[in-house]
Amino acid sequence: MKFEKPEGANPIDRMAVVGKPLSRIDGPLKTTGFAPYAYERHDVVPNQAYGYLVGSAIAKGRIRRIDTAEARRAPGVVAVVTSENAGTLALSQSNVAKLLAGPEIQHYDQAVAVVVAETFEQARHAAGLVRVDYARDKGSFDLAATRDSAPMTSSSGRPVPEPYVIGDFDGAFAKAPVTIDATYSTPDQSHAMMEPHASIAAWDGDRLTLWTSNQMIAWAVRDLAKTLGMPAEKIRVLSPYVGGGFGAKLWIRSDAVLAAVAARVAGRPVKLALARPQVMNNTVHRPATIQRIRLGAERDGRLTAIGHESLSGNLPGGRPEGATAQTRLLYAAANRMTALRLAALDLPEGNSMRAPGEAPGMMALEIAMDELAEKLGLDPVALRVLNDTQIDPEKPERRFSERQLVKCLEEGAATFGWSRRNPRPGQVRDGAWLVGMGMAAAFRNSPTMKSGARVRLETGGAVTVETDMTDIGTGSYTIIAQTAAEMMGVPVDKVTVRLGDSAFPVSAGSGGQFGAMNSTAGVYAACVKLREAVSAKLGFNAGDAEFSGGRVKSGNRAVRLADAAKDGPLSAEDFIEYGDLTKTYQLSTFGAHFVEAAVHAHTGEIRVRRMLAVCAAGRILNPKSARSQVIGAMTMGVGAALMEEMAVDKRFGFFVNHDLAGYEVPVHADIPHQEVIFLDEADEYSSPMKAKGVGELGICGVGAAVANAVYNACGVRVRDYPVTLDKLI
Ligand code: MOS
Repeated sequence: MKFEKPEGANPIDRMAVVGKPLSRIDGPLKTTGFAPYAYERHDVVPNQAYGYLVGSAIAKGRIRRIDTAEARRAPGVVAVVTSENAGTLALSQSNVAKLLAGPEIQHYDQAVAVVVAETFEQARHAAGLVRVDYARDKGSFDLAATRDSAPMTSSSGRPVPEPYVIGDFDGAFAKAPVTIDATYSTPDQSHAMMEPHASIAAWDGDRLTLWTSNQMIAWAVRDLAKTLGMPAEKIRVLSPYVGGGFGAKLWIRSDAVLAAVAARVAGRPVKLALARPQVMNNTVHRPATIQRIRLGAERDGRLTAIGHESLSGNLPGGRPEGATAQTRLLYAAANRMTALRLAALDLPEGNSMRAPGEAPGMMALEIAMDELAEKLGLDPVALRVLNDTQIDPEKPERRFSERQLVKCLEEGAATFGWSRRNPRPGQVRDGAWLVGMGMAAAFRNSPTMKSGARVRLETGGAVTVETDMTDIGTGSYTIIAQTAAEMMGVPVDKVTVRLGDSAFPVSAGSGGQFGAMNSTAGVYAACVKLREAVSAKLGFNAGDAEFSGGRVKSGNRAVRLADAAKDGPLSAEDFIEYGDLTKTYQLSTFGAHFVEAAVHAHTGEIRVRRMLAVCAAGRILNPKSARSQVIGAMTMGVGAALMEEMAVDKRFGFFVNHDLAGYEVPVHADIPHQEVIFLDEADEYSSPMKAKGVGELGICGVGAAVANAVYNACGVRVRDYPVTLDKLI
């Protein structure tokens, strides 16, 4: 089914099941520990051996010699795999650094060997016996040192000669009566998902089955085929339960490829999980940024010039962090300039993490807006309302499909009690605590992606949905069941959803907050086809057949849905794909974050006291799982604001605090009551579901709202994240 224009009313609009706050179908499995994660699939194939990864001890250079003799002799060892016996491994389009190094080393903890043994402990012990003789080269690890030399690139890392300019930015900025010119920085961050990267690989002749933890099944199959040099048809990937991804599992990592290679070398199934320090240095992270923002405004607050330049680093061949993305769409101003600079660094590969680009970009932009408001003597909410736009500020012929930013700001301000905020910092005292309020806009695009599904009416009337969509803790199982139940007119407990298997139709997968909208739209498309098949079977006209209460009705005739499957199951498969509607309509999501924070007057300790998010993100398919997404994202935003930072060892080139003791993330005691409000919205331009995404919107702007609240509390403006107490004193 091709979605090319708003189609008016459809069966989802009934909202009998869709839009209800159902608890997650997979909730009991996950909370009781019975959800079978990849590493725990003891049942799927016998004779599993354990792999343990050996990472490089240097960041850049070469392996002179690798001696595995002692490891091979250790108790229980089945095989030791290095680049010398792994066979040829190609680089897939999704990986920048090789997933098995040798002889060249591209970053610290890049895999140099996998030891396979009968038990995990034996594998780990023998891994310590692999002797590697390295020739170390000098690497480049210091982002700030590249400030004057890093070349300008496109968002894909292609060199470009100059910034992207609309109008006359330099002239308008020079003429503006009120300006801000400030530099902000965000550190390297780790996804810190609970479940590490893990895979079990088993070969059956030349066919590979991989049980893994991955967000994008079809990409995993494609990249495994390329890396291993084998046909995609001979690979099956399963990832039905994922313990968090946040972008780190968009692409296959060393666990997947090396489990497959090790299983081939060992001649038996191999399971391989990355240890937490390996998750942090062997895989990917959100790269640090240094961002310069220049804003020029009239005295009334109207922006005339917006300039945003962002510097980040990556391994050669990698992409920059696209931190200027939101600046191109969020506020009106006739004169605009954005630029990305990309430094070649020899740190582990930088890649997508929840709202890549916008999350760190908004952390800078929305402090700059707070600074501008103060300079103008204008309320920060009013400044944002004043500079709202309903058209794409770069392309006036395009408009936003739905843009309720102003309503989010105003409803948030009213609900939060923003009018009680004292605009002068450092004025409000609560005992030893200085108390302040801060806010920020939220913005994130909502991409469309082709997505397929298969739906079956079983004998007896139950409905089964199969798609390779993943549920990374987001609620995919539940909203897909709700969609199929709504379309087929059956109770949700009559629907079985099967996900995360490359044997099922290819879906959008989980990423870029595109999963919910696109995967349910794919299920919608398949259900439309199944309704046609059912109607044909029952002798109804599909155009006016109504599916509800387990029956199919038309005029005064009503038949049990199950009757259509009397002679055997009826199956239908289809996918949603999109025309070029997004050429004319920009699909984005909007919101507003409000935060109250307290700073201890003597110690500088920072406590977040209250948080509110107001989101406008199309139809909310399930307010409970959507709220969970947003409060999770707000929590991650607090981490980004106050705690999270991977410390770079600039001599040896690695992340030092590579575990959850050293890499701090918020715990329950750090997070106060959080409130989330969804505006009533149905975006006719997004898809038949009229939905968009919330999973990444929820983090965009939170960091700045916290930093702005800290400023309002104590009067110290911190522009370098995380905002830690040493920066306040
Ligand atoms: Mo997201 S960073 O595209 O999983």
